[in-house]
Amino acid sequence: MGTLYNDKTPFTRVFLFTGLALMAVGLIFGLIGGLQYLVPSFLKAQLSFDKIRPLHVSSMVFWIIMAAMGCVLTYIEEHTGRKLYSARLAKVQFGFFLFAILSIFSSYVMRIFGGREYWEFPPMLAIPIILGWILFLINFLLSIRTLKNQPVYVWMWLTGVFFFLFTFLESYLWLIPYFRNNVVNDMTIQWKSYGSIVGSWNMLIYGSSIFFMDKISGDKKYSRSPIAFAIYFLGLFNLMFNWGHHIYTLPTHSFIKHISYAVSMTELLLLGRIIYLWKSSLSTTQKHYHQPGYRFMAAADVWIFLNLILAITMSVPAINIYTHGTHITVAHAMGTTIGINSMILLAMIYDIMANSGRKIIPFKQSLKFGYWLANISLFVFWVALIIVGILKARWQMSVDQEPFGSMMSQLRPFFMIFLGSGTTLAIGFLTVISILLTQKPLSQST
Ligand code: HEM
Repeated sequence: MGTLYNDKTPFTRVFLFTGLALMAVGLIFGLIGGLQYLVPSFLKAQLSFDKIRPLHVSSMVFWIIMAAMGCVLTYIEEHTGRKLYSARLAKVQFGFFLFAILSIFSSYVMRIFGGREYWEFPPMLAIPIILGWILFLINFLLSIRTLKNQPVYVWMWLTGVFFFLFTFLESYLWLIPYFRNNVVNDMTIQWKSYGSIVGSWNMLIYGSSIFFMDKISGDKKYSRSPIAFAIYFLGLFNLMFNWGHHIYTLPTHSFIKHISYAVSMTELLLLGRIIYLWKSSLSTTQKHYHQPGYRFMAAADVWIFLNLILAITMSVPAINIYTHGTHITVAHAMGTTIGINSMILLAMIYDIMANSGRKIIPFKQSLKFGYWLANISLFVFWVALIIVGILKARWQMSVDQEPFGSMMSQLRPFFMIFLGSGTTLAIGFLTVISILLTQKPLSQST
């Protein structure tokens, strides 16, 4: 850790280093999982698919959460111009999360489950996450001090911090028999909470990205403008209600589905705005093209556009019936967590590292290689998953009853493309991560 962290490095950076390490580990788990699609016996005795999938997904979820917390804690200090209310609280918060992550990974390796999809670990291990998050909320509120006249990103952070806690608790309501005993209600609440948890961490990430864009453009007008607040409310509205497309296949009240569908379609407004602003964002991109952070933001812009088209298509009930439970859902989940969340977080980590006095290299050579390899591979990876999803959906709905084995052999070439592009995707990201993790602070470099 000598080169990574010294007495002068603010503690909040430890969240970022840990997040990057989790991403690196998660990429390796992902590759093992991808290989097991083709060779199911690979590492079966030690790390079978039922262990590797939660290990991969949890590493990636905690990469996003750790990095988002690190960015918010750092940017609060930059925004207020003061230190955090309590660095000690942040350290204890980090301790709770580290304990939870290590225990969760150990429980998966020992095949001790007991949770639900995405949070497969024993429910007891949710307690340190909840405690850590409560400390985050307290530290946030006491560091901000007032909500009067705050720019939009402070509201987004507050919403993200508060809603994550609320919806994370909600995702454990199944522990209470009243909720668990009614299957439809139980599933509805479960999927609603998952949709909103993602919406909550998006608030943390998008809020930080607005702060970052303000900083890079040197213009603070946008974050206080009525349009910024209008878009924030649209995001909040979606966070609360757009989860409905997760439950179209459940026999629940139709008004819930109709409201959710209508809300999902409001996302078209966001899409329209992106296209409208496309040209001006292109010229701004060119202006800052030499900055790594800006490049990653530009990549996220393209991924937002592509994923929004996929998400809106999947939200149409008549299409959702086909895509539900296929790799199109996986493409949606991975496309957004990689293309949007990870790209934006990497952009901000570059920015934060540069401010910590690290000699951040300009956008060339190895960084350029990693960046382009990751983005091009991601496109191939994403398209391969969508094709697998379409073929599987066709098989699920077919009246011919084609045997499962022959459907799987049709998918094999696409799984090979998935694995090949997944490997180059991982190499691209590992290059970027290693550049970030091995940057020495300026005082230590010659
Ligand atoms: C930053 C990079 C990555 C992130 C954030 C990420 C995220 C995710 C997420 C959120 C899921 C759950 C999807 C769902 O259940 O719908 C998932 C599943 C999966 N990922 Fe990744 N992933 C990444 C890279 C990779 C790579 C490089 C591979 C290698 C091939 C990979 C292979 C897999 C596999 C095999 C699954 C399981 C899909 C299934 O259940 O059938 N991932 N990933």
